[in-house]
Amino acid sequence: MPSRMSPRERYMRRALQLAEHGRGRVSPNPTVGAVLVRDGTVIGEGYHAVYGGPHAETECIRDAYARGNDPRGATMYCTLEPCSFRSPNKHNAPCTDAILEAGISRLVVAARDPNPAVSGRGVQVLRDAGLEVICGLLERRALEADEAYFVSVAGGRPMVHLKWAQSLNGRIARAGGGKTAISGPEALRHAHGIRAQCDAILVGRGTVALDDPSLTVRHADEPPGAGTGAGTDATEQSSAGHRAAQPIRVVLDPELKTSNSARMLEEPGETWIVIRPWVSQLRRRPFERPGVTLIELPPTELPPPTPNTSVSLAPALFSQAPLSRLSISPPSFSIAAVLDALYRRGVRSVLVEGGSETHRGFLDSGLWDRLSVYIGPALLDGEVLSPACGAHIADTEAITERTVTELGNTVCISGLNSAAAARLETLRWEFGVAAQSSPGQGFSGLNGLNGLNRRNEPNRQKGECCVHRTRT
Ligand SMILES: NC(=O)c1ccc[n+]([C@@H]2O[C@H](COP(=O)([O-])OP(=O)(O)OC[C@H]3O[C@@H](n4cnc5c(N)ncnc54)[C@H](OP(=O)(O)O)[C@@H]3O)[C@@H](O)[C@H]2O)c1
Repeated sequence: MPSRMSPRERYMRRALQLAEHGRGRVSPNPTVGAVLVRDGTVIGEGYHAVYGGPHAETECIRDAYARGNDPRGATMYCTLEPCSFRSPNKHNAPCTDAILEAGISRLVVAARDPNPAVSGRGVQVLRDAGLEVICGLLERRALEADEAYFVSVAGGRPMVHLKWAQSLNGRIARAGGGKTAISGPEALRHAHGIRAQCDAILVGRGTVALDDPSLTVRHADEPPGAGTGAGTDATEQSSAGHRAAQPIRVVLDPELKTSNSARMLEEPGETWIVIRPWVSQLRRRPFERPGVTLIELPPTELPPPTPNTSVSLAPALFSQAPLSRLSISPPSFSIAAVLDALYRRGVRSVLVEGGSETHRGFLDSGLWDRLSVYIGPALLDGEVLSPACGAHIADTEAITERTVTELGNTVCISGLNSAAAARLETLRWEFGVAAQSSPGQGFSGLNGLNGLNRRNEPNRQKGECCVHRTRT
């Protein structure tokens, strides 16, 4: 049967496909793909391959020249709005300059870049220079494809993905603790694929003590990105872009009780342990080793003490609160403070793997964006219930855009928190930059395209359930 896809949809899909090559390698930057077309022929292709490396647009132009093609007068299809700024220590020139210098006459963009340094300006610069710019083709698809970038930039914190495996009777571990095989090998590969796409994997110190996990990507079909970025980019202060091949392991361990012989400390990559400021130097010393960073949450980032009768002296040393208001045990880290500390270090996506108490902290805080639960066929004894039992979840309809994936003997149900889905919606062109467009040139053409976009894109409805079956 002949394809009903329009040629420009085909080119944008190709650009989205190219962007995938950067997955796991470009954070905290977005994944971006670009295709140059002239007279119905693709004359150049490019993608953002590695953090600090050339952007998709310049790669695409370079590729056109390398193939002996002249980009003048061509149309560029790009999954993200081109950047329009050069920050002090940025190696790459603005992509808008590269597009203008190459003499490209038309640009078709999928998504607006929510980075405040761009956010509509890239399009405006090119329009002002006389280029025809069309926005919003396959926009929703582009937003979904790099949801960690869009959700994190829009929210000012890393995108949080909660993930756990539970037995048929709702247990996440067997009685007595220790590693428990709840799901099968297909589910393991699937879960490691999710790990490979995240900047960081976060657990509580209980899981490290009981399971002694490696917290590395080992079983994914695609290995994680090399992360060899040598330069800096839109988010200069970042350190996540320079991480080793493995996602950063983050452990919440206020009193630094983790054993210094924990397996994960021997694994390649970095381990960040979040501790309280008053942990003694003696206790810290064994962790002064390559690959391990102790992150103190300063006292100001601790939540206000809860009313209580007796006093823990350590918080008292750092708090302005009256002693009578201090809690008997030091308060937990606020999840907002943990996420802020990670974001400031360049982490844009965190996979929270448990255990129960840690997950519950995130669920209670409401600061999570995606939930993936693997349900295996085992019936387990014991008390360690799924974190969803007893957590404060504000809205029972919180999960939207659900997918159900069959993975051998295990089913994975995954969905977006409706708040994150709503945040993604606000990034669409029709909400974002209409006010910035100059009269006449405007976004009326854009709105027309958005209409076309909605007709051609199979838009899923909120709460709609897609079933994917994975061959085993
Ligand atoms: N099935 C699965 O997917 C899965 C995944 C992971 C783990 N598990 C299982 O879960 C069990 C462990 O769960 P768990 O609930 O006992 O332990 P956990 O959540 O791994 O760790 C809890 C500890 O982490 C620290 N912590 C967590 N959140 C914190 C916060 N907001 N602020 C400060 N500290 C925080 C606290 O340390 P302090 O006590 O020092 O304050 C807390 O006691 C194990 O049996 C493991 O096998 C299952």
